[in-house]
Amino acid sequence: MTLPLIDDHQRVHTDLRVSVTDRCNVRCFYCMPEKGMTFRSHDEILRFEEIERFVRVVARLGIRKVRLTGGEPLVRKNICRLVRMLSAVPGIEDLALTTNGILLAGHAADLKAAGLHRLNISLDTLDREKFIEITRRDELPRVLEGIAAAQEAGFRRIKLNALAIAGLTEKEAVPLARFARRHDLELRFIEFMPLDADRRWANGRVLPGRKILDILTREIGPLQRVSPSDQQAPAAQYRFADGSGRIGLINTVTQHFCGQCNRLRLTAEGQVRNCLFSTREWDARAVLRGGADDDALTSLVRAAVGEKKLGHGSDNGEFARPKRTMHQIGG
Ligand code: 5AD
Ligand code: SF4
Repeated sequence: MTLPLIDDHQRVHTDLRVSVTDRCNVRCFYCMPEKGMTFRSHDEILRFEEIERFVRVVARLGIRKVRLTGGEPLVRKNICRLVRMLSAVPGIEDLALTTNGILLAGHAADLKAAGLHRLNISLDTLDREKFIEITRRDELPRVLEGIAAAQEAGFRRIKLNALAIAGLTEKEAVPLARFARRHDLELRFIEFMPLDADRRWANGRVLPGRKILDILTREIGPLQRVSPSDQQAPAAQYRFADGSGRIGLINTVTQHFCGQCNRLRLTAEGQVRNCLFSTREWDARAVLRGGADDDALTSLVRAAVGEKKLGHGSDNGEFARPKRTMHQIGG
């Protein structure tokens, strides 16, 4: 039996996030600049066969869960083909995808048929004008259609992800929570992290999870902590006391959970990162394209895990902003 991917802090890595493109069909201010984006060329990003090979190798090292991200993964041509390829990899028990939902209505049934297990959909507001302010595009109606289509296609346990930004999310939290309750969706609030292209992030712009709890408790009703279904999920989970509606808080900044981190990342152009805030990358694409064998890929992944730091330090000022922004890393 091959050794698992265990780091110097006894964290066992079972979870891989694969960015399939750095492109996106919106321009959320907390991620991308409004104008002047340059994206990776077609040759630079990994082909599906290369992604599949990487996933096969890490599945032998104990990776059990793969999440496809972007940019926006549904702008990548034929994404369903990749889903089909990865769902056939031995050892991958959970295959998920994070999307902004805009193209979901046209893809949901095919994704389901291709073997995708779960979907996370980003939604920061239900107000059309606010949506335009945040994403600089008028796409809220299509996102809502996408959510409905995903439910119709038979996806269960869909999660909505909302960014928690001070000065913005205070007003959005209650309508989002009501919407999630009504549609039987889990709603998670993710604290704003310093991975935005415009450098608008500041400590004061993070809306701490406990403030969201206060707002929801006051406006909707009491929430009870529940033990998460997945012990390693970074969200603290709550349920409204009347039974319906799950809320998750991902307190990346105010209470980071680096101690339990079991994640690795592969960027669209084939660089392995051991942390969102990693300042180093390991070039898997060079190995994949250089004719090396699977052992070389295994060594590279082990090297990345071996150098994983205990924390990212974004809360204590120690941390260095990575050169890449969110869409270039994969959320
Ligand atoms: N801080 C926290 N989360 C972010 N995302 C994008 N940019 C940031 C940021 N600066 C999230 C999106 C989406 C996921 C892909 O990454 O909300 O849900
Ligand atoms: Fe696109 Fe997601 Fe970045 Fe928004 S956060 S611009 S949806 S990649």
